[in-house]
Amino acid sequence: MVLFKKITDLQAWLSSHPQAGKQLAFIPTMGALHEGHKSLITKALSDGAYTLCSIFVNPSQFNDKADFNAYPVTPGPDLALLADAGCDVVFMPDTDEIYPEGTISESFDFGYLETILEGLHRPGHFKGVAQVVHRLLNIVQPDILYMGGKDYQQCMVIRELLQQTGKSEDIRINICPTVREADGLAMSSRNRRLTEPQRAIAGIIYQCLVSVQTKQRATSFGVLQKECTELMQAKGMEPEYIALADARTLHLLTDFDHNVPMIVLIAAKIGPVRLIDNML
Ligand code: PAJ
Repeated sequence: MVLFKKITDLQAWLSSHPQAGKQLAFIPTMGALHEGHKSLITKALSDGAYTLCSIFVNPSQFNDKADFNAYPVTPGPDLALLADAGCDVVFMPDTDEIYPEGTISESFDFGYLETILEGLHRPGHFKGVAQVVHRLLNIVQPDILYMGGKDYQQCMVIRELLQQTGKSEDIRINICPTVREADGLAMSSRNRRLTEPQRAIAGIIYQCLVSVQTKQRATSFGVLQKECTELMQAKGMEPEYIALADARTLHLLTDFDHNVPMIVLIAAKIGPVRLIDNML
């Protein structure tokens, strides 16, 4: 595994064609890596790709400064995990390398996608995500982007970004399944900020997703939404949204429509830690 911090060094390496006929797979991350991230590397390698992972905690996508400051930074264990996964290249730039002129520059507009769910609750978040992914894609110029379905709305935003920047013909997105802990909690870098009692109740988010999925033909979504809200609140969690949407467009549904692919999405706070999850 080779590690680069500078764009010029990374590009010089890539232009020497180390991938030798393989597709170049790109896995952008913010570090604090776990088995969920590792699964993306493993999938890319099993698809036969040359695999490049970036680690960059992108300041411009944090609408909450406290969340940015509390974001775990663990370069040592991250590099060990990537080496163990068999990752080919790691790109770990400093902020100045990505934003030499500050973070204010191109601003993308994702319309409806920015007005709902994560877009609504985290103003500016997706503009920040798009800004950094756009820069990283220009630097890396991959063939395939591997992303996690846990961040479903983010995947849709990036798909839209590729459209808007004329890259959708050149770069494919591979959306991979969410990796979970034994109790169903979706793996997340933020989980390590949970105290023991908070961690003990965090599996309820998954239980709620499963209950909506299993009861979808017996009960209305409104009833299930209320049940889940009450269950979370009774345990001391603060649900931000429990939403049902058309999985193709994320248009919100008030009740189940078995004629379209559906997705349930949840965001909830446990103390100061905000977690998201979803289920198709
Ligand atoms: P980060 O939260 O580090 O996630 C990096 C990638 O790992 C994303 O595609 C995310 O969906 C995926 N991922 C996270 N947890 C996962 C899990 N439990 N199972 C499977 N995949 C999982 O998402 C970001 O970083 C940033 O917004 C980024 C795209 C890097 C832009 O800064």
